[in-house]
Amino acid sequence: MPQHPPTASSEAYIAHPAESVGGTVGVPGDKSISHRALLLGAVANGTTTISGFLHSEDCLAMLAALRAMGVNIEESGSRLTIAGVGAYGLRQPAESLDLGNSGTAIRLLMGLLAAQPFDSVLTGDESLRQRPMERVAEPLRAMGAQIATDRGRAPVRIHGTRPLSGIDCTLPVASAQLKSAILLAGLWGDGRTTVRSPGPSRDHMERMLLTMGVPLKPEANGTVSVAGPVTLTGTSIDIPGDFSSAAFFIVAGLLGAADGLLLPAIGINPTRTGLLTILRSMGAKIELRNERQSGAEPVADIYVEKSDLRGVEIGAQLVALSIDELPILFIAAAAAVGTTVVTGADELRHKESDRLAVMAAGLKALGTTVDERSDGLTIEGGPLRGARVDSHGDHRIAMAFAIASLRARSAIEILDTSPVATSFPDFLTVAARSGLRLDAVTAGSHE
Ligand code: S3P
Repeated sequence: MPQHPPTASSEAYIAHPAESVGGTVGVPGDKSISHRALLLGAVANGTTTISGFLHSEDCLAMLAALRAMGVNIEESGSRLTIAGVGAYGLRQPAESLDLGNSGTAIRLLMGLLAAQPFDSVLTGDESLRQRPMERVAEPLRAMGAQIATDRGRAPVRIHGTRPLSGIDCTLPVASAQLKSAILLAGLWGDGRTTVRSPGPSRDHMERMLLTMGVPLKPEANGTVSVAGPVTLTGTSIDIPGDFSSAAFFIVAGLLGAADGLLLPAIGINPTRTGLLTILRSMGAKIELRNERQSGAEPVADIYVEKSDLRGVEIGAQLVALSIDELPILFIAAAAAVGTTVVTGADELRHKESDRLAVMAAGLKALGTTVDERSDGLTIEGGPLRGARVDSHGDHRIAMAFAIASLRARSAIEILDTSPVATSFPDFLTVAARSGLRLDAVTAGSHE
Protein backbone atom coordinates (compact mmCIF):
# COMPACT_ATOMS: atom_id res chain seq x y z
CA MET A 1 0.00 0.00 0.00
CA PRO A 2 1.16 3.57 -0.62
CA GLN A 3 2.95 4.87 2.47
CA HIS A 4 1.86 8.49 2.14
CA PRO A 5 -1.55 10.01 2.77
CA PRO A 6 -3.48 10.65 -0.44
CA THR A 7 -4.10 14.00 -2.08
CA ALA A 8 -2.25 16.39 0.19
CA SER A 9 -2.19 19.28 -2.31
CA SER A 10 -5.28 20.58 -4.07
CA GLU A 11 -3.65 20.92 -7.49
CA ALA A 12 -4.39 18.40 -10.20
CA TYR A 13 -3.77 17.91 -13.92
CA ILE A 14 -6.29 16.85 -16.50
CA ALA A 15 -4.19 15.19 -19.22
CA HIS A 16 -6.15 14.96 -22.48
CA PRO A 17 -5.01 12.55 -25.16
CA ALA A 18 -2.81 14.47 -27.64
CA GLU A 19 -2.42 13.64 -31.33
CA SER A 20 1.33 13.90 -31.35
CA VAL A 21 4.34 15.56 -29.74
CA GLY A 22 7.52 16.92 -31.26
CA GLY A 23 9.80 19.89 -31.85
CA THR A 24 12.71 21.06 -29.75
CA VAL A 25 12.12 20.69 -26.03
CA GLY A 26 14.35 22.46 -23.49
CA VAL A 27 14.49 21.03 -19.97
CA PRO A 28 15.88 22.80 -16.87
CA GLY A 29 19.23 22.21 -15.15
CA ASP A 30 20.22 19.03 -13.37
CA LYS A 31 18.92 18.75 -9.80
CA SER A 32 21.68 16.54 -8.39
CA ILE A 33 24.40 18.76 -9.86
CA SER A 34 22.66 21.97 -8.73
CA HIS A 35 22.58 20.72 -5.11
CA ARG A 36 26.25 19.75 -5.17
CA ALA A 37 27.39 22.96 -6.88
CA LEU A 38 25.69 25.02 -4.16
CA LEU A 39 27.02 22.97 -1.31
CA LEU A 40 30.62 22.61 -2.49
CA GLY A 41 30.74 26.25 -3.68
CA ALA A 42 29.64 27.32 -0.19
CA VAL A 43 32.57 25.65 1.59
CA ALA A 44 35.20 26.35 -1.07
CA ASN A 45 37.84 29.05 -0.86
CA GLY A 46 36.99 31.89 -3.25
CA THR A 47 34.13 32.43 -5.65
CA THR A 48 32.10 29.77 -7.47
CA THR A 49 29.87 30.76 -10.38
CA ILE A 50 27.08 28.47 -11.51
CA SER A 51 25.20 28.72 -14.80
CA GLY A 52 22.15 26.64 -15.65
CA PHE A 53 21.14 26.34 -11.97
CA LEU A 54 17.78 24.60 -11.38
CA HIS A 55 15.46 27.06 -9.61
CA SER A 56 13.20 24.33 -8.24
CA GLU A 57 11.79 24.01 -4.72
CA ASP A 58 14.30 21.29 -3.76
CA CYS A 59 17.35 23.29 -4.83
CA LEU A 60 15.97 26.50 -3.33
CA ALA A 61 15.62 24.66 0.01
CA MET A 62 19.36 23.84 -0.14
CA LEU A 63 20.13 27.44 -1.12
CA ALA A 64 18.12 28.81 1.82
CA ALA A 65 19.85 26.40 4.23
CA LEU A 66 23.28 27.59 3.12
CA ARG A 67 22.25 31.24 3.39
CA ALA A 68 21.00 30.51 6.92
CA MET A 69 24.57 29.41 7.69
CA GLY A 70 26.04 32.72 6.55
CA VAL A 71 26.84 31.95 2.90
CA ASN A 72 26.36 34.85 0.49
CA ILE A 73 24.75 33.66 -2.75
CA GLU A 74 23.77 36.17 -5.44
CA GLU A 75 21.24 35.26 -8.11
CA SER A 76 20.93 36.71 -11.57
CA GLY A 77 18.58 34.60 -13.69
CA SER A 78 19.87 31.04 -13.82
CA ARG A 79 23.37 32.29 -12.91
CA LEU A 80 24.51 32.21 -9.29
CA THR A 81 27.61 33.60 -7.64
CA ILE A 82 28.64 32.03 -4.34
CA ALA A 83 31.14 33.69 -2.04
CA GLY A 84 32.71 30.56 -0.58
CA VAL A 85 33.26 30.75 3.20
CA GLY A 86 36.00 28.11 3.16
CA ALA A 87 36.13 24.85 5.09
CA TYR A 88 35.85 26.54 8.49
CA GLY A 89 33.53 29.48 7.76
CA LEU A 90 29.94 28.18 8.14
CA ARG A 91 27.93 29.72 10.98
CA GLN A 92 25.40 27.96 13.21
CA PRO A 93 21.88 28.44 11.77
CA ALA A 94 19.53 30.34 14.09
CA GLU A 95 16.68 27.88 13.48
CA SER A 96 16.17 24.33 12.30
CA LEU A 97 16.77 23.88 8.56
CA ASP A 98 13.65 22.87 6.61
CA LEU A 99 14.59 20.95 3.46
CA GLY A 100 11.01 20.58 2.26
CA ASN A 101 10.63 17.51 0.02
CA SER A 102 14.34 17.08 -0.73
CA GLY A 103 16.02 13.81 0.23
CA THR A 104 19.23 14.92 -1.48
CA ALA A 105 19.40 18.20 0.47
CA ILE A 106 18.82 16.64 3.89
CA ARG A 107 21.22 13.72 3.37
CA LEU A 108 24.04 15.78 1.88
CA LEU A 109 23.65 18.34 4.67
CA MET A 110 23.81 15.56 7.29
CA GLY A 111 27.30 14.74 6.01
CA LEU A 112 28.34 18.39 5.94
CA LEU A 113 26.89 19.34 9.32
CA ALA A 114 28.17 16.26 11.15
CA ALA A 115 31.63 17.80 10.69
CA GLN A 116 30.87 21.40 11.74
CA PRO A 117 31.66 22.66 15.25
CA PHE A 118 28.04 23.63 16.02
CA ASP A 119 24.69 21.95 16.58
CA SER A 120 21.91 21.85 13.98
CA VAL A 121 18.49 20.34 13.34
CA LEU A 122 17.34 19.19 9.87
CA THR A 123 13.72 18.57 8.98
CA GLY A 124 11.34 18.53 6.02
CA ASP A 125 7.79 18.02 4.82
CA GLU A 126 5.52 15.08 5.64
CA SER A 127 6.95 12.93 2.83
CA LEU A 128 10.58 13.64 3.77
CA ARG A 129 9.86 12.93 7.45
CA GLN A 130 8.86 9.39 6.49
CA ARG A 131 12.06 8.55 4.62
CA PRO A 132 14.97 6.55 6.13
CA MET A 133 17.79 8.61 7.65
CA GLU A 134 19.59 5.99 9.78
CA ARG A 135 21.36 4.64 6.69
CA VAL A 136 23.20 8.02 6.59
CA ALA A 137 23.48 8.56 10.34
CA GLU A 138 25.05 5.14 11.04
CA PRO A 139 28.24 5.47 8.96
CA LEU A 140 28.62 9.08 10.09
CA ARG A 141 28.48 7.91 13.72
CA ALA A 142 31.22 5.41 12.87
CA MET A 143 33.33 8.49 11.95
CA GLY A 144 32.65 9.96 15.41
CA ALA A 145 29.60 12.09 14.52
CA GLN A 146 26.86 12.63 17.07
CA ILE A 147 23.50 12.35 15.33
CA ALA A 148 20.03 11.51 16.63
CA THR A 149 17.12 10.63 14.37
CA ASP A 150 13.46 10.41 15.34
CA ARG A 151 12.99 6.62 15.19
CA GLY A 152 15.11 6.56 12.06
CA ARG A 153 13.45 9.57 10.43
CA ALA A 154 13.77 13.37 10.38
CA PRO A 155 13.95 15.63 12.34
CA VAL A 156 17.66 14.84 12.54
CA ARG A 157 19.57 16.43 15.43
CA ILE A 158 23.30 16.88 14.97
CA HIS A 159 25.78 17.70 17.69
CA GLY A 160 28.65 19.01 15.57
CA THR A 161 31.92 17.18 16.14
CA ARG A 162 35.45 17.89 14.95
CA PRO A 163 37.59 16.24 13.93
CA LEU A 164 35.79 13.23 12.52
CA SER A 165 37.92 10.20 11.74
CA GLY A 166 38.20 8.63 8.30
CA ILE A 167 36.48 5.27 7.80
CA ASP A 168 36.41 2.43 5.32
CA CYS A 169 32.78 1.52 4.82
CA THR A 170 30.61 -0.56 2.51
CA LEU A 171 27.19 0.88 1.75
CA PRO A 172 24.12 -1.37 2.18
CA VAL A 173 22.61 0.07 -1.04
CA ALA A 174 24.03 1.72 -4.18
CA SER A 175 22.95 5.23 -3.15
CA ALA A 176 24.62 8.43 -4.32
CA GLN A 177 23.07 10.44 -1.51
CA LEU A 178 24.65 8.13 1.03
CA LYS A 179 28.00 7.99 -0.75
CA SER A 180 28.07 11.78 -1.13
CA ALA A 181 27.17 12.41 2.53
CA ILE A 182 30.03 10.20 3.77
CA LEU A 183 32.52 11.70 1.29
CA LEU A 184 31.50 15.18 2.41
CA ALA A 185 32.08 14.35 6.07
CA GLY A 186 35.39 12.80 4.98
CA LEU A 187 36.55 16.18 3.66
CA TRP A 188 36.87 17.26 7.31
CA GLY A 189 37.97 13.79 8.45
CA ASP A 190 41.26 12.88 10.00
CA GLY A 191 42.76 10.34 7.58
CA ARG A 192 41.35 8.48 4.61
CA THR A 193 37.65 7.86 4.06
CA THR A 194 36.83 5.04 1.65
CA VAL A 195 33.29 4.34 0.45
CA ARG A 196 32.55 0.98 -1.19
CA SER A 197 29.26 0.30 -2.90
CA PRO A 198 27.30 -2.80 -4.00
CA GLY A 199 26.96 -1.18 -7.44
CA PRO A 200 27.47 2.08 -9.32
CA SER A 201 25.57 5.24 -8.45
CA ARG A 202 25.71 8.79 -9.84
CA ASP A 203 29.20 10.27 -9.52
CA HIS A 204 28.56 14.03 -9.84
CA MET A 205 30.09 14.72 -6.42
CA GLU A 206 33.32 12.91 -7.32
CA ARG A 207 33.61 14.77 -10.63
CA MET A 208 32.97 18.15 -9.01
CA LEU A 209 35.40 17.56 -6.15
CA LEU A 210 38.13 16.72 -8.67
CA THR A 211 37.54 20.01 -10.52
CA MET A 212 37.74 21.86 -7.19
CA GLY A 213 41.20 20.49 -6.55
CA VAL A 214 40.43 17.58 -4.21
CA PRO A 215 42.71 14.59 -4.86
CA LEU A 216 39.96 12.00 -4.95
CA LYS A 217 40.49 8.40 -5.98
CA PRO A 218 37.51 6.94 -7.88
CA GLU A 219 38.03 3.30 -8.90
CA ALA A 220 36.35 1.40 -11.74
CA ASN A 221 34.28 -0.73 -9.31
CA GLY A 222 32.63 2.40 -7.85
CA THR A 223 34.84 2.56 -4.74
CA VAL A 224 35.98 6.09 -3.96
CA SER A 225 38.29 7.49 -1.32
CA VAL A 226 39.46 10.88 -0.07
CA ALA A 227 42.14 11.76 2.48
CA GLY A 228 41.04 14.56 4.82
CA PRO A 229 41.27 17.27 5.75
CA VAL A 230 41.17 19.02 2.38
CA THR A 231 40.39 22.49 1.05
CA LEU A 232 38.28 23.17 -2.04
CA THR A 233 38.96 25.89 -4.59
CA GLY A 234 36.03 27.85 -6.05
CA THR A 235 35.35 27.23 -9.72
CA SER A 236 32.94 27.84 -12.56
CA ILE A 237 30.22 25.19 -13.05
CA ASP A 238 27.99 24.90 -16.10
CA ILE A 239 25.00 22.68 -15.25
CA PRO A 240 23.57 20.58 -18.11
CA GLY A 241 19.87 19.79 -18.66
CA ASP A 242 18.59 17.18 -16.21
CA PHE A 243 18.48 13.71 -17.77
CA SER A 244 15.77 12.75 -15.26
CA SER A 245 13.53 15.60 -16.50
CA ALA A 246 14.40 14.86 -20.13
CA ALA A 247 13.31 11.24 -19.53
CA PHE A 248 9.63 12.23 -19.56
CA PHE A 249 9.99 13.76 -23.01
CA ILE A 250 12.19 10.93 -24.28
CA VAL A 251 9.31 8.55 -23.58
CA ALA A 252 6.76 11.10 -24.85
CA GLY A 253 8.71 11.22 -28.13
CA LEU A 254 8.82 7.42 -28.37
CA LEU A 255 5.05 7.26 -27.86
CA GLY A 256 4.04 10.12 -30.11
CA ALA A 257 6.74 11.98 -32.09
CA ALA A 258 6.24 10.71 -35.65
CA ASP A 259 8.41 13.61 -36.89
CA GLY A 260 10.94 13.36 -34.07
CA LEU A 261 11.63 15.29 -30.88
CA LEU A 262 14.93 16.92 -29.89
CA LEU A 263 16.18 17.61 -26.36
CA PRO A 264 19.24 19.89 -26.51
CA ALA A 265 22.16 19.93 -24.05
CA ILE A 266 21.19 17.11 -21.70
CA GLY A 267 23.64 15.54 -19.24
CA ILE A 268 24.51 12.00 -20.32
CA ASN A 269 26.73 10.96 -17.41
CA PRO A 270 26.83 7.14 -17.77
CA THR A 271 25.83 6.71 -14.11
CA ARG A 272 22.50 8.33 -15.03
CA THR A 273 21.54 7.00 -18.46
CA GLY A 274 20.48 3.41 -17.76
CA LEU A 275 17.08 4.36 -19.21
CA LEU A 276 18.63 4.80 -22.66
CA THR A 277 20.04 1.26 -22.53
CA ILE A 278 16.69 -0.12 -21.39
CA LEU A 279 14.61 1.77 -23.97
CA ARG A 280 16.96 0.80 -26.80
CA SER A 281 16.59 -2.85 -25.82
CA MET A 282 12.82 -2.28 -26.07
CA GLY A 283 13.24 -1.12 -29.68
CA ALA A 284 13.42 2.66 -29.13
CA LYS A 285 14.87 4.91 -31.83
CA ILE A 286 17.17 7.22 -29.88
CA GLU A 287 20.19 9.16 -31.17
CA LEU A 288 22.79 11.04 -29.16
CA ARG A 289 23.86 14.00 -31.29
CA ASN A 290 26.71 16.46 -30.83
CA GLU A 291 28.23 14.61 -27.86
CA ARG A 292 30.57 16.92 -25.97
CA GLN A 293 32.10 17.63 -22.58
CA SER A 294 30.77 20.49 -20.46
CA GLY A 295 33.21 20.95 -17.60
CA ALA A 296 33.23 17.70 -15.66
CA GLU A 297 30.08 16.27 -17.25
CA PRO A 298 29.34 14.73 -20.69
CA VAL A 299 26.44 16.35 -22.57
CA ALA A 300 24.53 15.61 -25.81
CA ASP A 301 21.44 16.57 -27.75
CA ILE A 302 19.01 13.65 -27.50
CA TYR A 303 16.84 12.91 -30.54
CA VAL A 304 13.94 10.42 -30.35
CA GLU A 305 11.33 9.18 -32.80
CA LYS A 306 8.03 7.37 -32.37
CA SER A 307 8.92 3.68 -31.97
CA ASP A 308 7.24 0.32 -31.53
CA LEU A 309 8.30 -0.75 -28.05
CA ARG A 310 8.38 -4.33 -26.76
CA GLY A 311 8.59 -5.66 -23.19
CA VAL A 312 11.95 -6.32 -21.55
CA GLU A 313 13.50 -7.81 -18.37
CA ILE A 314 15.52 -5.49 -16.11
CA GLY A 315 17.57 -6.36 -13.02
CA ALA A 316 19.29 -4.50 -10.18
CA GLN A 317 22.31 -3.21 -12.13
CA LEU A 318 20.24 -1.24 -14.66
CA VAL A 319 17.78 -0.22 -11.95
CA ALA A 320 20.60 1.61 -10.10
CA LEU A 321 21.50 3.49 -13.30
CA SER A 322 17.89 4.53 -13.94
CA ILE A 323 16.55 4.84 -10.40
CA ASP A 324 14.62 8.10 -10.90
CA GLU A 325 13.43 7.12 -14.38
CA LEU A 326 11.55 3.95 -13.41
CA PRO A 327 8.13 5.65 -13.07
CA ILE A 328 8.30 6.83 -16.69
CA LEU A 329 9.81 3.50 -17.77
CA PHE A 330 6.73 1.78 -16.29
CA ILE A 331 4.57 3.98 -18.55
CA ALA A 332 6.68 2.95 -21.57
CA ALA A 333 6.24 -0.68 -20.51
CA ALA A 334 2.46 -0.26 -20.22
CA ALA A 335 2.41 1.12 -23.79
CA ALA A 336 4.72 -1.61 -25.16
CA VAL A 337 3.81 -4.94 -26.72
CA GLY A 338 4.47 -7.84 -24.34
CA THR A 339 5.61 -8.20 -20.74
CA THR A 340 8.15 -6.11 -18.84
CA VAL A 341 9.66 -7.52 -15.64
CA VAL A 342 11.60 -5.22 -13.29
CA THR A 343 13.42 -6.80 -10.32
CA GLY A 344 15.91 -5.48 -7.74
CA ALA A 345 14.00 -2.20 -7.44
CA ASP A 346 13.00 -2.25 -3.74
CA GLU A 347 14.74 1.13 -3.23
CA LEU A 348 11.78 2.65 -5.10
CA ARG A 349 9.73 2.10 -1.95
CA HIS A 350 11.87 4.76 -0.17
CA LYS A 351 11.57 7.65 -2.63
CA GLU A 352 9.21 10.65 -2.49
CA SER A 353 6.45 8.01 -2.36
CA ASP A 354 6.45 4.22 -2.43
CA ARG A 355 6.93 4.29 -6.20
CA LEU A 356 6.23 0.59 -6.74
CA ALA A 357 2.87 0.73 -4.93
CA VAL A 358 1.79 4.12 -6.30
CA MET A 359 2.72 3.30 -9.91
CA ALA A 360 1.04 -0.11 -9.69
CA ALA A 361 -2.17 1.47 -8.39
CA GLY A 362 -2.18 4.15 -11.10
CA LEU A 363 -1.45 1.72 -13.92
CA LYS A 364 -4.21 -0.62 -12.74
CA ALA A 365 -6.62 2.34 -12.81
CA LEU A 366 -5.61 2.86 -16.47
CA GLY A 367 -6.50 -0.78 -17.21
CA THR A 368 -2.97 -2.22 -17.27
CA THR A 369 -2.35 -5.67 -15.81
CA VAL A 370 0.35 -5.23 -13.14
CA ASP A 371 1.81 -7.67 -10.65
CA GLU A 372 3.46 -5.89 -7.70
CA ARG A 373 6.23 -7.79 -5.92
CA SER A 374 8.37 -6.64 -2.99
CA ASP A 375 11.25 -5.69 -5.32
CA GLY A 376 9.59 -4.79 -8.60
CA LEU A 377 6.69 -4.88 -11.01
CA THR A 378 5.60 -7.11 -13.89
CA ILE A 379 3.66 -5.08 -16.44
CA GLU A 380 1.64 -6.39 -19.40
CA GLY A 381 1.60 -3.82 -22.19
CA GLY A 382 -1.78 -2.98 -23.71
CA PRO A 383 -4.32 -0.24 -24.37
CA LEU A 384 -4.76 2.48 -21.72
CA ARG A 385 -8.06 4.03 -20.69
CA GLY A 386 -8.70 7.38 -18.99
CA ALA A 387 -8.98 7.33 -15.20
CA ARG A 388 -8.24 9.24 -12.00
CA VAL A 389 -4.80 8.46 -10.57
CA ASP A 390 -3.22 9.75 -7.37
CA SER A 391 0.44 10.81 -7.55
CA HIS A 392 0.66 10.80 -3.73
CA GLY A 393 2.55 14.06 -3.94
CA ASP A 394 5.37 12.50 -5.95
CA HIS A 395 6.62 14.79 -8.72
CA ARG A 396 7.97 12.04 -10.95
CA ILE A 397 4.77 9.99 -10.72
CA ALA A 398 2.63 13.02 -11.61
CA MET A 399 4.77 13.73 -14.70
CA ALA A 400 4.88 10.06 -15.71
CA PHE A 401 1.07 9.80 -15.81
CA ALA A 402 0.90 13.07 -17.76
CA ILE A 403 2.95 11.37 -20.51
CA ALA A 404 0.69 8.28 -20.37
CA SER A 405 -2.10 10.48 -21.77
CA LEU A 406 -0.44 10.15 -25.20
CA ARG A 407 -1.69 6.57 -25.32
CA ALA A 408 -4.92 6.84 -23.26
CA ARG A 409 -8.34 6.64 -24.91
CA SER A 410 -9.69 9.50 -22.74
CA ALA A 411 -8.42 12.02 -20.20
CA ILE A 412 -6.30 11.02 -17.21
CA GLU A 413 -6.91 13.05 -14.07
CA ILE A 414 -3.75 13.24 -11.93
CA LEU A 415 -4.17 14.29 -8.31
CA ASP A 416 -1.71 16.08 -6.03
CA THR A 417 0.55 17.60 -8.67
CA SER A 418 1.97 20.71 -6.94
CA PRO A 419 5.22 18.86 -5.96
CA VAL A 420 6.16 18.84 -9.68
CA ALA A 421 7.74 22.21 -8.76
CA THR A 422 10.34 20.39 -6.64
CA SER A 423 12.20 19.33 -9.78
CA PHE A 424 10.53 20.81 -12.89
CA PRO A 425 8.76 24.12 -12.17
CA ASP A 426 8.02 24.85 -15.87
CA PHE A 427 6.73 21.38 -16.68
CA LEU A 428 3.30 22.55 -17.88
CA THR A 429 4.77 25.18 -20.21
CA VAL A 430 7.38 22.82 -21.63
CA ALA A 431 4.78 20.05 -22.02
CA ALA A 432 2.38 22.37 -23.87
CA ARG A 433 5.17 23.45 -26.22
CA SER A 434 5.86 19.81 -27.05
CA GLY A 435 2.20 19.20 -27.97
CA LEU A 436 0.91 17.57 -24.77
CA ARG A 437 -2.54 18.73 -23.66
CA LEU A 438 -2.41 19.25 -19.90
CA ASP A 439 -4.74 21.49 -17.90
CA ALA A 440 -3.86 22.45 -14.34
CA VAL A 441 -6.94 22.61 -12.11
CA THR A 442 -7.60 22.89 -8.40
CA ALA A 443 -9.32 19.97 -6.69
CA GLY A 444 -13.06 20.41 -6.61
CA SER A 445 -13.21 22.52 -9.77
CA HIS A 446 -13.11 19.35 -11.90
CA GLU A 447 -15.51 17.12 -9.93
C1 S3P B 1 20.27 11.52 -5.85
C2 S3P B 1 20.43 10.17 -5.68
C3 S3P B 1 19.36 9.19 -5.86
C4 S3P B 1 18.14 9.78 -6.56
C5 S3P B 1 17.82 11.15 -6.06
C6 S3P B 1 18.98 12.10 -6.25
C7 S3P B 1 21.42 12.41 -5.63
O1 S3P B 1 18.93 8.72 -4.60
O2 S3P B 1 17.03 8.94 -6.41
O3 S3P B 1 16.68 11.69 -6.74
O4 S3P B 1 21.40 13.57 -6.08
O5 S3P B 1 22.39 11.97 -5.00
P1 S3P B 1 19.73 7.57 -3.80
O6 S3P B 1 21.02 8.11 -3.40
O7 S3P B 1 18.87 7.29 -2.62
O8 S3P B 1 19.83 6.41 -4.71
